[in-house]
Amino acid sequence: MKGIILAGGNGTRLAPMTSVVSKQLLPVYDKPMIYYPLSVLLLGRITEILVIARPQDLPLFKQLLGDGSRFGARLDYAAQDSPRGLADALILGREHVGDDDVALILGDNIFHGHDFGGIVTDAIKNNTGATLFGYEVSDPERYGVAALDRNGELVDVVEKPANPPGNLAITGFYLYTNEALDVAAGLAPSPRGELEITDVNKHFVDRGRARIVPLTGGFAWLDAGTAESYVDACNYVHAIETRQGRKIACPEEIAFDAGLIGPAELLEAAGQFGSSEYGQYLKRHAGRGAA
Ligand code: DAU
Repeated sequence: MKGIILAGGNGTRLAPMTSVVSKQLLPVYDKPMIYYPLSVLLLGRITEILVIARPQDLPLFKQLLGDGSRFGARLDYAAQDSPRGLADALILGREHVGDDDVALILGDNIFHGHDFGGIVTDAIKNNTGATLFGYEVSDPERYGVAALDRNGELVDVVEKPANPPGNLAITGFYLYTNEALDVAAGLAPSPRGELEITDVNKHFVDRGRARIVPLTGGFAWLDAGTAESYVDACNYVHAIETRQGRKIACPEEIAFDAGLIGPAELLEAAGQFGSSEYGQYLKRHAGRGAA
């Protein structure tokens, strides 16, 4: 399975924080926002990843993440010159994905919970069309929302409904079979002028080949869509990391624990960050050995 991180958009809701810096490069406590979705893909052992960003931001993403070898991954880059919609990622990513299946994740989505790597790898194994990840929220009208039948089966998906069919928001992490590329290519823009990922999802729901995995039991899903939810995300990461002494979404650590890089590469990565707390953390982790 190939991965795509969609990290474009104008970040207008976070202006002026995003006036000169891409939203997905803003720090979330101790690391850039894009580290969080990158970590999700690595937890799922997805290592061939396309990063999509605005043309003017691509050099900074490249400077930050390089060719991905520091994470035992291979990163490619593509420009999205205007925010045509989330499904555009599946059009821009066609060459990168080839005949493979694809995992798409939004560059501003933060996931944290017990054994998320296991949840993702199981979901990849069981995917027969689209696999979505659901999260119960108090304000479903802000999101794509899942409608479930009495047996908990997914029967519909709706984008930002005025009257939500429930509280289960559809998070910005999607697994698809290769067919999703053709579905995206055939989409027309919605009334708000975007190629909607919800329309891709609906294609699979209507054919009985979509499944939703609810993320429950102390799981955290945060998006940094507003100044308030951004600072909530920073505070959450700060609180958990300080309490537990372990980092959330440290891609070098995840790559090391997964055997994608060895101690020498981890130490080299640590060296790049000098005496920073992040660099010291990687150094200590290399000394401890893989988890
Ligand atoms: O976060 C999950 C939600 O993401 C889903 O529940 C919704 O179904 C989905 O439509 C999306 O809703 P948002 O309102 O959060 O979408 P937004 O337009 O804010 O875009 C999400 C991220 O993707 C944002 O960081 C910018 C980036 N983006 C967006 C568009 C439209 C791009 O990189 N390119 C684009 O063309």
